[in-house]
Amino acid sequence: MLEKPYKNVSFIYSHLMRSIDYVKWANYIFELSKELKRKPKNILEIACGNGKIAELLAKKFKNYTSCDYSLNMLKQVSSKRNSRVCADMAALPFNFTFDFIFSTFDSINYITNRTSLQNFFNEVAKCLSEDGSFTFDVSLEKNSLKYVRYLNRSGKFNGIKFSQKSNYNKKNRIHYNYFDITFSNGTKVQEIHKQKIYHFNDYFDLIENTSLYVSKCYDAFAFKQATSDSERAQFVLKRK
Ligand SMILES: C[S@@+](CC[C@H](N)C(=O)[O-])C[C@H]1O[C@@H](n2cnc3c(N)ncnc32)[C@H](O)[C@@H]1O
Repeated sequence: MLEKPYKNVSFIYSHLMRSIDYVKWANYIFELSKELKRKPKNILEIACGNGKIAELLAKKFKNYTSCDYSLNMLKQVSSKRNSRVCADMAALPFNFTFDFIFSTFDSINYITNRTSLQNFFNEVAKCLSEDGSFTFDVSLEKNSLKYVRYLNRSGKFNGIKFSQKSNYNKKNRIHYNYFDITFSNGTKVQEIHKQKIYHFNDYFDLIENTSLYVSKCYDAFAFKQATSDSERAQFVLKRK
């Protein structure tokens, strides 16, 4: 049975990401939050997944809201300091603003067409306070080409068998991940994850049409300028 992305991958996500250094990632986001001139009063994490970053950052910030469209991912968020909201990032349900908004780990690449990506930036603009800042990373083509082979893997975690096949289609610039999952009761499901690998300049073009501007664009995990040859770029947006 074909299922919605992350409905079932949520059960093996912590295993798939076991080698990711979330402490380093959270510290980097914390450093980026200092681009604000004052301490943020409230924070929104978009596409928070199972809340690994929230576990680390909710201690440092008050009024921390985590949002993701996968209820099963949200259920695994263990931090009790943050509010959790199940929502699509392309239709944010907030009627107040946040001082600091962020998203990690290629989540934005799950928006697979330019119109939706444009809507997403407009949605964030509506939720960002006057002097707030929004930071997110994106995976670029070099990253897809470099890691596609590593993402072909299989294993077993908590009695759940899985196999992941990954391929990058250079023509439509979609990075596909196919997950076949067999639960311990024999139930088999499949998820197909599609991520759009936009051109580096697409982000600048789309952001230009919003009330936001690109204040910084770093090579991810660093503070030097990203280029179209970077593997991952970290955007920092502010209000015009
Ligand atoms: C690669 S995971 C990253 C999760 C987390 N940020 C991390 O660093 O581990 C991508 C996340 O994006 C979420 N996601 C994908 N499309 C979404 C959408 N349209 N709205 C909200 N969340 C979405 C998925 O449910 C998943 O939790």
